[in-house]
Amino acid sequence: MTSQFEPLHSPAAERNLQPILAELQRILPAQGKALEIASGTGQHVAGFAQGLPGWHWQPSDAQPDAFDSIAHWCTQAGVTNVQAPVVLDVLAPAWQLETVDLVYCANMLHIAPWACCAGLMAGTARHLAPDGLLVTYGPYLESGVTTSPGNQAFDADLRQRNPAWGLRLLDDVVHQALSVGLQLRERVALPANNLLLVFAR
Ligand SMILES: C[S@@+](CC[C@H](N)C(=O)[O-])C[C@H]1O[C@@H](n2cnc3c(N)ncnc32)[C@H](O)[C@@H]1O
Repeated sequence: MTSQFEPLHSPAAERNLQPILAELQRILPAQGKALEIASGTGQHVAGFAQGLPGWHWQPSDAQPDAFDSIAHWCTQAGVTNVQAPVVLDVLAPAWQLETVDLVYCANMLHIAPWACCAGLMAGTARHLAPDGLLVTYGPYLESGVTTSPGNQAFDADLRQRNPAWGLRLLDDVVHQALSVGLQLRERVALPANNLLLVFAR
């Protein structure tokens, strides 16, 4: 008996795709080369490739398990501006990549050890074009801002699953970025208490 291929589907990725895409369409020029870190299911890269047709997208993830799923969503979206996904662990001391105009990373920093933030920043600094952008998306803790009950519960759940995981303090992420010469240019509040952060040199 042959098994049926089931693409990975994230309801959250389906919900937040359009709000994130709208921000990318606002902040990005018409064309460029983008690297997606931690692509997961591939729903984001497929939607972004459709909504930003002048951009060439390179999906990646530390785990290759979802690469068929990424290909599925891109085929279903009918896009041809997405490269085959590559294995990329942000902790690797060297990323086998050319220079890019955008590094995009959603929902990784809290589901990975804190060292991955330093890895993301260092790798971005190595591969980002002089006028390129780093965009991150996800839930963060902010000093002086009351954390929503939903994010508090999410943080507790993450830490119970893995003590090295958990929502990151925005100040710590900004500090890590500054250490490699990236400054926070924009903080955009998106639905469900998530933030889109834009960093530039
Ligand atoms: C919650 S998923 C997010 C997927 C997608 N970006 C989204 O927003 O729906 C987290 C992803 O981070 C990836 N990841 C975890 N550690 C990583 C690392 N060290 N380098 C690159 N990706 C990593 C996981 O493999 C997983 O696909």
